[in-house]
Amino acid sequence: MADMMWAGRFSKQVDAGVNAFNSSIAFDGRMYRHDIQGSIAHATMLGDCGIISKEDSLTIIEGLKGILADIDSGKLELDPNAEDIHMFIEAELTKRLGDVGKRLHTSRSRNDQVAVDIRLYLRDEIKEIYALVKELAVTLVNMAIQHTETIMPGYTHLQRAQPITFAHHLMAYVWMLIRDLERLEDTSKRMNYCPLGSGALAGTTYKTNRKQTSDLLGFTAPMPNSLDGVSDRDFCVELGCALSLIMTHLSRFSEEIIMWCSWEFKFVELDDAFATGSSIMPQKKNPDVTELIRGKTGRVNGDLVTLLSMLKGLPLAYNKDMQEDKEAIFDAVDNVKLCVKTFIPMLSTMRVLKDNMRNAAAKGFINATDCADYLVKKGMPFRDAYKITGTLVAQCIEKGVTLETLPIADYKAMTDLFNQDVYEAISLDTCVRERKSEGGPSPDAVKEQISLAQKALKL
Ligand code: ARG
Repeated sequence: MADMMWAGRFSKQVDAGVNAFNSSIAFDGRMYRHDIQGSIAHATMLGDCGIISKEDSLTIIEGLKGILADIDSGKLELDPNAEDIHMFIEAELTKRLGDVGKRLHTSRSRNDQVAVDIRLYLRDEIKEIYALVKELAVTLVNMAIQHTETIMPGYTHLQRAQPITFAHHLMAYVWMLIRDLERLEDTSKRMNYCPLGSGALAGTTYKTNRKQTSDLLGFTAPMPNSLDGVSDRDFCVELGCALSLIMTHLSRFSEEIIMWCSWEFKFVELDDAFATGSSIMPQKKNPDVTELIRGKTGRVNGDLVTLLSMLKGLPLAYNKDMQEDKEAIFDAVDNVKLCVKTFIPMLSTMRVLKDNMRNAAAKGFINATDCADYLVKKGMPFRDAYKITGTLVAQCIEKGVTLETLPIADYKAMTDLFNQDVYEAISLDTCVRERKSEGGPSPDAVKEQISLAQKALKL
């Protein structure tokens, strides 16, 4: 086992089991680019402030760039026995540059180094997730444009309630995703402060320039408190929340698609490329993608709970517990990207079975509210109209007919306010067309919200 960089005060080498237990390179190795980016900014500042010579600063920067190129090309492999990515890169630099390499860590601790690395890493990941979630929202808007006239039942308690359109239903998810995008932007903004220069916890005695490293790395400003600088992981929790909500939205939608694929609904049919068969039942076509998304939501929620539980008892400032932040937030990030990437093509290739949606909307007395509203518009108080309609529905059930096919005589027997025009008032098309209140399902109202969403998505 190699000597540790901090070996000075120790008389023995670390136990091999403890070394493996302690090591984080298996999961923090993925931050090598960001670690080098942070180190280049730090070395630049050290040189400009005269803390190390300009020449050493330039040599270190060139050395770091060489390491980056070699890891990128696969020429240099990460050593699985290294304690973490920070130690690995510094050791490699020293191997290449000798004493000059040993000057890089002046006025810095791994505590502010790792805090900067995660921020830089997550900043890039958030950009990718933002683009994916936006692409999903745009896919849904484009589907909605095709379906402003596609009538389907709207549900409460999973009971047919009132008629809506498929476009209206899809747009509900678009608004959830728009809020997700806002949350990602917000998290990114609040996270974008630079901990570098906080040192181990109590700053440094060197005359550093924290604004310079912050500017070089594209942060808004240095973090104002060195203790908070090294011990803050709020941004991991915030991002974890934002990711959990994205998954929650995908999961609710997945649950609906799973139901819609069943013979009981048959509102949609997945493309064969996005469904799977059974090893025993030849007739099966299973919506595995959506089930996995629903399942992985539990896992991403678990990541969030891991982060919250890890932080809740930690005294200031850095504690090794915080190394546990990475696997949790990386897992959440990886899974959200995977799910959104798979969901988009699955949705856009899904066949919408309009007739089945319409037939389902034609059953279940979905127009009963409209029948009551017909009477209200003729002057009857709503509660009375509600009661009469309820009685009519009960008569229909008994006779095995619908409100559309119940004879006018039965209507008139309840009140003279009913005329032949009731059939037009309770037809499915009228029920949808007339729900033109702001945010409602009528084709015109949905077109309005589509253009609002397009504006929000900057399309
Ligand atoms: N691998 C560590 C982590 O992820 C880096 C910081 C180590 N700091 C320390 N004082 N041991 O948190």
